[in-house]
Amino acid sequence: MNKAVRKAVIAGNWKMNKTPEEAKELISAIAPLVKDAGCDVMACTPYVDLWAAQEAAKGTNIQIGAENCHWAKSGAFTGEIAADMLAAMGINIVIIGHSERRQYFGETDVTVHDRTRAALDAGLTVILCVGETLEQREQGITSELVAMQTKIALGGVSKEELGRVIIAYEPLWAIGTGKTATAQQANEVCALIRDTIKELYDEAAGEGITIQYGGSMNAANAAELLAQPDVDGGLIGGASLKPADFAAIIEAVTKG
Ligand code: 13P
Repeated sequence: MNKAVRKAVIAGNWKMNKTPEEAKELISAIAPLVKDAGCDVMACTPYVDLWAAQEAAKGTNIQIGAENCHWAKSGAFTGEIAADMLAAMGINIVIIGHSERRQYFGETDVTVHDRTRAALDAGLTVILCVGETLEQREQGITSELVAMQTKIALGGVSKEELGRVIIAYEPLWAIGTGKTATAQQANEVCALIRDTIKELYDEAAGEGITIQYGGSMNAANAAELLAQPDVDGGLIGGASLKPADFAAIIEAVTKG
């Protein structure tokens, strides 16, 4: 199996940006630019924007996702959103374990596992984020750390369920910093994640899983990153809020 048979996925992570009205405008601006995309196109938006984004995306090839979900089905968890609530409104993609959740909101490998479990149980597709800090990279523990994050998150996930998992490698030092990992660095860790999946499941599962790179990916650097043999797509922050830039990244994967 080779890269060509894996599903290439470019997903925007809007983070805490855009009102519902702005979400509608942004989706409407992106849609015509990406209609011929040769990859899956996703936009993950704040919860309050999901309805508007979904309405605006109707009849287009843009799939709308959320940026997190809770591990419980319901209950006393003020401020949280259950996976079933997303599924009930027709949302079937969710980002789990983003480094900003881990960094600022106390998410651990265990809560990331629990949220992944809940999302899969609700029938959602999960974009599972893993990645190291600069300090961890300098300590030389990137491989162990990323493998551990992957293993803990996927504990108990069946091979069948793995078909609804995309993994995003996002080195923290490259997020929102304008400092991209080199294509070699990105590919090296994506390959390592693929090997981890082979170890956890089997060769075919590792070859089949879509692994994205995320961290300051933009119109200028996307082609080189996406040309790497183990980089199957991108999780895009800042550039996903700019229609032309987001479309250029999609164009890069389409050409690659
Ligand atoms: P930037 O593309 O803004 O660096 O963000 C990457 C990211 O965190 C996507 O989830």
